Parts: sequence; structure tokens; C-alpha cells
Amino acid sequence: MAYTIAVEGLRKRYGDVQAVDGVSFEVAEGEFFGILGPNGAGKTTTLEIIEGLREADAGELSVLGLPPWPRNPKLLPRIGVQLQASSFFERLTAREQLQTFGSLYGVPAKKADAMLEAVGLDDKADVRVEKLSGGQAQRLSIACALVHDPELLFLDEPTAALDPQARRNLWDVLQKINTEGRTIVLTTHYMDEAEILCDRVAIMDRGTILKLGPPPVLVRGLDAPARISIATGVLAADAARRLPGADEVADDGVSLVISTRDPSAVVAAMAAENALTGVQIRGATLEDVFLDLTGREYRA
Ligand SMILES: Nc1ncnc2c1ncn2[C@@H]1O[C@H](COP(=O)(O)OP(=O)(O)OP(=O)(O)O)[C@@H](O)[C@H]1O
Ligand SMILES: [Mg+2]
Repeated sequence: MAYTIAVEGLRKRYGDVQAVDGVSFEVAEGEFFGILGPNGAGKTTTLEIIEGLREADAGELSVLGLPPWPRNPKLLPRIGVQLQASSFFERLTAREQLQTFGSLYGVPAKKADAMLEAVGLDDKADVRVEKLSGGQAQRLSIACALVHDPELLFLDEPTAALDPQARRNLWDVLQKINTEGRTIVLTTHYMDEAEILCDRVAIMDRGTILKLGPPPVLVRGLDAPARISIATGVLAADAARRLPGADEVADDGVSLVISTRDPSAVVAAMAAENALTGVQIRGATLEDVFLDLTGREYRA
């Protein structure tokens, strides 16, 4: 099978820091692939090497069947890159930015307005980039990465500064272009975003991939208990502890939470006692997988 991206044994060191320490993975054509990891895990460095912006110290690398380094002019029109720190041409308006980026690839100027609309910036077309808010600038940089209809799109924390509406709108935009057959590689710190968008995710830390797979498979692999919560007062904690299948019970005065590996038995018993008022059942999420793998301590 020919992969859109194939990376084998990738390494990159900056001085004393081994930023990427033997990373291998493949991305299939049309796949939506996520790279997750704490600050400093090596996500951006990995992306920049694949994008052809940095030279690797070691490793085999193929992007759309071609080596990305030294910077490969055959690849540039076929890939779209949104960098973690966006940069624009000075003193141009949002529309002029898009027209300028587009003109590098022979895209007609009128495409700029369609792209502004796609990212919800149509009313900012005539505003200079330095007057855009952080989130607006981020949306413009995504539009710039998309303006030439690339087959392969790289996004480094595309929704980092976006408000909840803009995030969801952007998810729709990305899902649409992925459904059209384009391959997308993104990094994110939002686990819900990765769970919703990505076919597979790689969880990185300290320059290596700790786990790789579809989010539901990683979550099931954690084998974490389900948590059933009801309003406090609906069922006494002692009664909850006696329910068949209940492992742990906690009541903080607002909610009573039962941890269980047999949620059917617990819910059936609660139903029999007419004690399901305000019930919420939560399984493990990708966030639990992430914290299980990377720990909870704060990283500088
Ligand atoms: N240009 C550079 N020169 C020296 N060290 C660097 C450089 N870029 C990154 N590093 C170091 O390499 C390591 C990996 O950085 P990288 O930017 O790839 O992490 P990241 O996973 O993208 O983090 P974040 O979530 O904060 O964006 C970090 O320890 C960082 O300090
Ligand atoms: Mg980064």
C-alpha cells in the first residue's frame, strides 16, 4: 500500500534537547491523522520535518511518494501548511493576503472571497491583518493553507485561539475537505477535537510515540470504569454501595457518583429503586488515555 506519509526512525536534536527521538508512523490517503502530546513533546518539530521546513538528523521520510528534504518544489503546490505561529505579509488586508498566497500557486484572485467565507471572515475582507484578533488571524492562516486546494494539509494547533463557535465551524470546514478526499494531519491539545475529527491519533511525549490508533480503540484499551452520577439525595450512599456491580461510591453533596465495570447491572438496580433522577453515565475519554500515558504533572 502506498502511504501519503511514511516516516521511519525520525530523529532531531537541538543542542542538548532530543526533540524527536525515533518516530515512525504512516498516514494513509484520505486519512485524518492527529498528533497529541504535552508542550515540548516534539509535535511541531515532527510536522516541520515532514513539511520540508527542517532537516532531520536521521530517518526515512516520504510525503506523497517524494522526499520532502531538500525543500522539494514538486511538493509545494500539493501540500498546505498552517504553522503554529502564523505570519503574514505586512500591511495587507485579509483578502489581499489570500490573493497573494493564492497567486504563488496560480489561484485566481476571486477564490479569496470564497475562502474568507469558508472560515467566517467575509466581513473582515478589507481589514489589515495587524487589526485582526488572535482567533481571526488564526482563521486567516488556515484559509491561506487551503487556498490552493492542497491534497495534503498540515495544521499545527489550528483551533488554539478560537472561540467555541469558530472551533466548531472550523471542524465542519475540515471534515468537509477531508470527506472530499484530502489527507489532513493536525496537532491539538483538545482531546474532544481529536476524538471527533481524527481517524487515528499518535500520542507523543519526549520525542517518541507512546500510543497510536483510532481514539475509540485507545479508550477501550484503557479498560477504565464507567461513572454513573445522579443528584445527591436520590439514593443514599450506603444504599448505592449495596447495588450489585458498584465498585466505588462518592457523594460530594451535589452528585452521587458510582464507579463500576458493570454499568448494566448498576443502572438496572437503580431503575428498580426508581433512583435515576438526573442520571449521567460517563465512560473513559481520550483525555483519560492521554493523562494515563503522559502523567498529570505540569511540564515547563
Ligand atoms: N528551534 C529550536 N531550537 C532549539 N530547541 C527547540 C527548537 N524548537 C523546539 N525546540 C525544543 O524541542 C522540543 C520539542 O519542541 P516542539 O516545538 O517540537 O514541541 P511541541 O510538541 O510542538 O510543543 P507545543 O505543544 O508546546 O507546541 C522542546 O523541548 C523545545 O524546547
Ligand atoms: Mg508545537
